[in-house]
Amino acid sequence: MPKPLTITTAISYPNGRPHIGHAYEAIATDAIARAARMSGRDVFFQTGTDEHGLKVAQTARTKGITPNAFVDEMSSYFKEMDDILNISYDRFIRTSEPAHHAASQAIWEAMAANGDLYLDRYEGWYSVRDEAYYDESELSEGADGAKLSPQGTPVEWTIEESWFFRLSAYQQKLLDLYEKQPDFIQPESRRNEILRFVEGGLRDLSVSRTSFDWGVKVPGSPDHVMYVWVDALTNYLTGCGYPSDPERLERYWSEGGDIVHIIGKDIVRFHTVYWPAFLMSAKLPLPRTVFGHGFLLNRGEKMSKSLGNVADPKDLAETFGVDPLRYFLLAEVSFGNDGSYSAEAIVHKTNTELGNAFGNLAQRTLSFIAKNLEGRLPVPAPFPEDEALLATVHEATTCAVPQAFASLAPQDAIQAWLRAAYACNAYIDAQAPWALRKTDPARMEAVLATLYVAIADLAIAISPVIPASAGSLLDHMGIPAEVRSYGALGTDWYTDLHSRGFVVEAPKPLFPRLEMPVEAQAE
Ligand code: MSP
Repeated sequence: MPKPLTITTAISYPNGRPHIGHAYEAIATDAIARAARMSGRDVFFQTGTDEHGLKVAQTARTKGITPNAFVDEMSSYFKEMDDILNISYDRFIRTSEPAHHAASQAIWEAMAANGDLYLDRYEGWYSVRDEAYYDESELSEGADGAKLSPQGTPVEWTIEESWFFRLSAYQQKLLDLYEKQPDFIQPESRRNEILRFVEGGLRDLSVSRTSFDWGVKVPGSPDHVMYVWVDALTNYLTGCGYPSDPERLERYWSEGGDIVHIIGKDIVRFHTVYWPAFLMSAKLPLPRTVFGHGFLLNRGEKMSKSLGNVADPKDLAETFGVDPLRYFLLAEVSFGNDGSYSAEAIVHKTNTELGNAFGNLAQRTLSFIAKNLEGRLPVPAPFPEDEALLATVHEATTCAVPQAFASLAPQDAIQAWLRAAYACNAYIDAQAPWALRKTDPARMEAVLATLYVAIADLAIAISPVIPASAGSLLDHMGIPAEVRSYGALGTDWYTDLHSRGFVVEAPKPLFPRLEMPVEAQAE
């Protein structure tokens, strides 16, 4: 039995509405989680909202409501986005939950027991927007002379009594970890960045605040709340049963377990420096991989409220459809790099790849069967060409596609799938079943039977990316639920379906042709 997989997105700050960057991360992680389930793995997939910290407290204050009321409302928009986008999370965690407070206090106590926490005074730069402390040397100067963080956000000089975490003691241990576990930070470019950062030396980290109280209380220090990243990172453990459910913890967060965090490139330092150091200190197992994906840009430009180019995923899903949006984001962007989206690019990719290469293939084949055989499934009699096509499709759908997902490369999975779909298109054109109808009806049936199997395999293989459309095609084709996994692809189901006298109806188009939305045409 393969090991269980624990896979997570970052948890989002609910101080604004979700944008397409959040959607992208959720969709990519969802596709990888679905593919793992289809490979027969026990998967725990968690996402959620990161509700504490100064930024949330300040935003709530400017709105004149309590932080609690504010996050209750805002978190619901993230959950709604996930539900609209068909994100198959097993748990949507909110860090304001009591179970999460208990887990954060438990990891704090474990770090304290290891001698890694001490009380001192913090004096330095803090960015409320990033919820991060920065070194003077990391700052740059903005146009108005104000100091800016490496993310370009304003920083303020902060002086407070604070608990500190002895991060400096973990420099060598972290370097050893990166060496021993080269996959710990992916992709390679991010790994190099972090190596340089840690090699440069680590300072102890301020891990509590006294100037506001919206957070998890520090055990034994009622005036302090934990620095939001201590509690935020701990969300991953809370979902795995820490500290109260050792059985669950053993299953989803154990030594040598397969634990994967999918996050954006801006927060790799928190996940690959602070997080493993906290875990080592608390004597808890470490994740296998932290993958820092790239940023999504609007027509090549950074999204920002001031530019007015922040796309709402709900609107995009409504305009283009959930599955076209999911497909576009994963097919377009090489996972790990930045990528760009635009209405034209979504329309073009959906029409050419989902519509022409796959949708039409299914449409042509099934309508032809419905019309010429009255929906009766054709009788197979494989020729070498049929065997060759099925071998190509089979290799892609049972090996290349699931392997690419398992290596966190959804774009490669789609490429492998698309190549197999093109092979089917070439096959249908070469075999020309419409011409065989008069000259060789038995051969026509064999060709159609081959295509039926190939289309079902393709639909199963791509379902992590377009679950709803693939599912409805498979329902239409009568493919039983047990066959819809990477391990079960084969042809026995066809024989069963055939002998049961299954009748396929003429299908409705799977991916109706998208037109450019009017607003986008005007741009
Ligand atoms: N709350 C922290 C994460 C804590 S994880 C223990 C946070 N939240 S966030 O709302 O700012 O970002 C959530 C995720 O969305 C992060 O992984 C971030 O990198 C990602 N993205 C934010 N903007 C993005 C794009 N424009 N494109 C792609 N992903 C982006 O950071």
